[in-house]
Amino acid sequence: MNYTADRPTETETEETILKKAASHKEIVLDVKDLSIFYGSKEAVKRANMGIEKNAVTALIGPSGCGKSTFIRSINRMNDLIPSSRAEGEIIYDGLNILRKDINVVALRAEIGMVFQKPNPFPKSIYNNITHALKYNGQKDKQALDQIVEESLRKAALWDEVKDRLHQSALSLSGGQQQRLCIARTLAMEPQILLLDEPASALDPVSNAKIEELILQLKEDYSIVIVTHNMSQASRVSDKTAFFFNGDIVEYDDTKKIFTNPSETKTEEYISGRFG
Ligand SMILES: Nc1ncnc2c1ncn2[C@@H]1O[C@H](COP(=O)(O)OP(=O)(O)OP(=O)(O)O)[C@@H](O)[C@H]1O
Ligand SMILES: [Mg+2]
Repeated sequence: MNYTADRPTETETEETILKKAASHKEIVLDVKDLSIFYGSKEAVKRANMGIEKNAVTALIGPSGCGKSTFIRSINRMNDLIPSSRAEGEIIYDGLNILRKDINVVALRAEIGMVFQKPNPFPKSIYNNITHALKYNGQKDKQALDQIVEESLRKAALWDEVKDRLHQSALSLSGGQQQRLCIARTLAMEPQILLLDEPASALDPVSNAKIEELILQLKEDYSIVIVTHNMSQASRVSDKTAFFFNGDIVEYDDTKKIFTNPSETKTEEYISGRFG
């Protein structure tokens, strides 16, 4: 067989290399053949996904299709569900984080998670942020003050709470509580932020604030967000994965998914024909 005929010319090679370099994004989490079971039920089926660094990845799909199961597996929150079991790999920083000997407490500091319902501790705003840091041995008041201010600023909450840091977090509105939960996660200096429907319980103004915040945070963090809100997914994310019945039907640039999806199922879902 004369395989030399298929070889690209020198200029083509150069072009291809340049093109590849331009589209090359660093992968922060490499999900390989990930299956997650609850007992014998396979809720996520051999999922493969390269999650990009400093990008926002949206997970969409109808209720019960496995989005929360998938996102929870990324920081081993499924470990808390006794019937749950994972197969496959999630490579982060060269390590398979599903390995039994992984320190999950340290992992969850690197890969922080915020849930649908804001869940601040029944403590002051200040102590919500310092709680885990103190537990980890940080005692220096000045350092703690600084982390509190920085995290609240990053979560776009500082101006609203700077004069009431020692009031209960439960005195905040739902939208403020959610931003506090984001600040609390950021205080741990994570690399990755996992957000499972972070704005669905919020009013439109708080929702818009969270969206704005996500766009700011992606400069410094890699973000994975589950959302049922299609316009939100198209506004905030760079990549979108469409889940259906435990399968990742399609994973691509958000623009492509929302304008010209490859799969009929994706098209049906985003146009509201089911789900
Ligand atoms: N703790 C659990 N124990 C047993 N089965 C579960 C558990 N959590 C989820 N499941 C099942 O796994 C499947 C996927 O659920 P999951 O919560 O991941 O879906 P989802 O896409 O997040 O849905 P929603 O959009 O409603 O939040 C469903 O069939 C669900 O019933
Ligand atoms: Mg869910």
